[in-house]
Amino acid sequence: MFRFRTITAAAVFALSAGVAGSALAQTTLNFAHTTAQGSHYSVGVQAFGEKLAELSDGKFEIREQAAGALGGERDMIEGLQIGSVELVYSSTGPLGNFAPETLVLDLPFLFKDYAAARSILDGEIGDELLEAVNAQGLVALAWSENGFRHITNSSRAIDAPEDLNGLKIRTMENSVHMEAFSAAGASPTPMAFPEVFAALQQRVIDGQENPIPIITSANMWEVQDHLTLTGHVYSPAIIIASPSLWDSLSDEEKAWFEEAADTAVAATRAKVEEDEQTGVAMLRERGMEVIEEVDQAAFREAVSPAYDTFVGQYGDEMLTRIQAAQ
Ligand code: PAF
Repeated sequence: MFRFRTITAAAVFALSAGVAGSALAQTTLNFAHTTAQGSHYSVGVQAFGEKLAELSDGKFEIREQAAGALGGERDMIEGLQIGSVELVYSSTGPLGNFAPETLVLDLPFLFKDYAAARSILDGEIGDELLEAVNAQGLVALAWSENGFRHITNSSRAIDAPEDLNGLKIRTMENSVHMEAFSAAGASPTPMAFPEVFAALQQRVIDGQENPIPIITSANMWEVQDHLTLTGHVYSPAIIIASPSLWDSLSDEEKAWFEEAADTAVAATRAKVEEDEQTGVAMLRERGMEVIEEVDQAAFREAVSPAYDTFVGQYGDEMLTRIQAAQ
C-alpha cells in the first residue's frame, strides 16, 4: 500500500510543488540554496531532482528552496546538522567555519583556470577535502562550482588594487577572503548573501565580489555600476546532505543520491560555462561599465599577505599539493 513518509513539516505542501517525480512521490526532500531560480545552482538542483526521481522510480521528490528561503549558507549548513533541511548547495564561503581544512580552496589566485580546479576537485585532493567535511557530522556528496569571482561596486572604476582603498566590499563569511581584501586596502564587510542586494541598494556597502553567474542571476546591475574582471579567486560549491537523511537511506538509495549529485555537478558546470560566455555582454547592455583588461599580477601581489596568514595558521601541505597538481 502507498505509504507517505514525512521528513520535514514542509513536506506535505511540497507534494504539489516539487521539482520532479511522480505525483505520488513518497518522500519529499528540501534542497536549499541562496541563489535565484534559474541560476547555475538552481539548474543543478533541478537536474538532481530529475535524476533522483528517475533512479528511484518516483520514490524521492525534490523541493527546491531557492533564493535564501531557508537562510544564508551558514544557516543552511547548520540546518543540515540539526536535520531541518535535507540537502544544500553552497559555496565554500562559510564551509571553513565547519571544516577548516577546506579553507585552502578559498586562497586567491590558487587555481589557474576552470579545467585545473575541476580536475583537482574531482580527484584525490577533492575526495580528501570531502572527507574533512564528513568528519564534521555532514554528508558531502560532491564538489560543484560557483565560478571565478570578480569585483563590482558603485563608487568608482577599479583599474588597480589601489582603487580598492577604503571601499566597503562585502565578502563571504570567510577568514581567507576577509584577509585578502583587507591586505588589498579595502574594508571587508562579511555578510550572508540574502542581505547583500538590499545593503548595496541602501549603500551600506560600496561593492561585493562574485562570479558572473551570480552577478547576472542576482540582477546586480540594478545596484552596481562597475565590474572589474579580476578573477581573483575560484569559488567552488559543494552539495551536502543531512546526516539524518543519510542514515535513513539504504545502500542502494545512497548510490542514487550520489549519482544524482554527479548529474547536478555536470548541469551546474555547463550553466557556469554558458553564463561566462554571455554574461559580460548582458551586463554591459544593462549599463554596467566592465573593465576586462586587468593586471592580475598586481592584484595577486596585493592579496599575497593572505597566504602568509593562512600558512601561519594551517601550514602549507595541502596548498603545495594543489599548486603542484596544475
Ligand atoms: O557570495 C556568496 O555568498 C556566494 O558566492 C553565493 C552567492 C551565496 C553563492 O554560493
